Amino acid sequence: MTTSSSTNGATSGDEQKLSPSGLPIRAIPGGYGVPFLSPLRDRLDYYYLQGPEAFFRTRIARHGGATVLRVNMPPGPFLARDPRVVALLDARSFRVLLDDAKVDKSGTLDGTFIPSASLFGGHFPLAFLDAADPRHAELKRVMMGLAVSRMHAVAPAFRAAFGAMFDAVDAAFRASAGKKKAVEFNKHNAVHMLDFTCAALFGGAAPSKAIGANASRKAVKWLAWQLHPLASGVVKPWPLEHLLLHTVRLPPFLVARDYADLTAYFAAVAAAFLDDHAAGKSSISREELLHNLVFLAIFNAYGGFKIMLPHLVKWLARAGPGLHAKLAAEARNGGGEDDDVVTLADIDRNMPLVKSVVWEALRLNPPVEFQYGRAREDLVVESHDAAYEVKKGEMLFGYQPFATRDERVFDRAGEFVPDRFVVAAGGHEDERRRMLDHVVWSNGAETAAAAEGNKQCPGKDMVVAVARLMVVELFRRYDTFDATIVEMPLEPVVTFTSLTRATTKQP
Ligand code: HEM
Repeated sequence: MTTSSSTNGATSGDEQKLSPSGLPIRAIPGGYGVPFLSPLRDRLDYYYLQGPEAFFRTRIARHGGATVLRVNMPPGPFLARDPRVVALLDARSFRVLLDDAKVDKSGTLDGTFIPSASLFGGHFPLAFLDAADPRHAELKRVMMGLAVSRMHAVAPAFRAAFGAMFDAVDAAFRASAGKKKAVEFNKHNAVHMLDFTCAALFGGAAPSKAIGANASRKAVKWLAWQLHPLASGVVKPWPLEHLLLHTVRLPPFLVARDYADLTAYFAAVAAAFLDDHAAGKSSISREELLHNLVFLAIFNAYGGFKIMLPHLVKWLARAGPGLHAKLAAEARNGGGEDDDVVTLADIDRNMPLVKSVVWEALRLNPPVEFQYGRAREDLVVESHDAAYEVKKGEMLFGYQPFATRDERVFDRAGEFVPDRFVVAAGGHEDERRRMLDHVVWSNGAETAAAAEGNKQCPGKDMVVAVARLMVVELFRRYDTFDATIVEMPLEPVVTFTSLTRATTKQP
């Protein structure tokens, strides 16, 4: 390795400054423009004039293909103090964000915007804490324990929720007889996955019973109060949306009643869990843990399922009857001793295509698309072809779909390849492992696990289980289906236009 005093080795003659792996160190291209005005203009580009994908692609093209760039990220003025980030837009540079030794993630969950603590009973939940914070380790231990201890409840709770959801979908279809048949999946998913999440994590009365029919509306409203600066395409016309959602914070008192109802519900269903915790030695009070459980169940888990399942069904719908028949064959023939009930172990052992389809959907549409973290120290970030110096304290931002659709890592990276992760007879397990290492929806590699000292999702196994169960139950119930898809910023709207019930065990 040669070093020189130049910071822009590309143009500095013979002596080029190189990164530890020998890449030329370049100045980070891009810029932030005129304070206040440029972030406003970028915000309009991002939400309305270009959309995220084109926003990044045009800037990459403008800077000669560089995938590490300085840009302003929304929401910007009035909502976030500083919109300036270094964007990491390829699989290699993105990995810095998964390295907790390099990035500090305190308060970066929602990016440059930090919601009011009053939305969480005054306590910022675990997901807002940095991995080096001792409170992070303590809370993470508790949450990992909860996730592991409830894995046994996932399959039965999912089957119950799936049955209720698709009974309602079928009934809505029957009710639309004669008219053009169309039943929106997202609406049913929003109701039933809240019941599922709470049953899986705590058991006890479902929110739709205990709180009432408007339970999921309360949950979604509370999520909206946290995420409105980052959402778009919800209110029409867009200038009105921009005014309502992207100018000032929605006042927390307008959602306080809903949050109080949700908190009361969790205080009841999680009472035994809270009692157990209170009996041990912990610096986390019962009240703080309760607010953390609300956040875990509604933001982390339910919020994730609400986005993930429509994407999964979207890819299945687009793939069509050929793939449906193959998945139905696996789902119906791969059960274990009790043919009526498919277990997670059955899926793991006997259903390679189901497993592959789920990883492929999570690769193409990681439900949480943005990751942020501040450089703990001065760093050198490497993309595929160049390296860049980042200063301590600068905000790093990764747009994950660009990392997981990187052609330098995956063949046909932008395509849904259902059997991408199936290891063919005589094939190489190593290649699958290499690819899974780049499936990072959980804020960590699919080959890694959540730990006290990292920021990886402790619900990872539960999430993969839910997605696998969704595919299996769908094709045990139906031979095939059709749906229309409307892509939206958070979750695509999936509307079933036909569902063909399974008539035989064999597809
Ligand atoms: C489809 C569903 C889910 C998705 C997409 C998802 C995704 C994620 C992601 C991306 C993060 C890291 C956030 C960041 O710092 O940038 C995360 C953290 C977290 N997730 Fe999940 N998650 C899901 C379900 C769950 C479930 C079921 C649980 C409950 C067991 C859970 C509990 C958590 C917690 C507690 C954290 C914070 C971890 C930490 O700060 O160390 N998540 N999740």
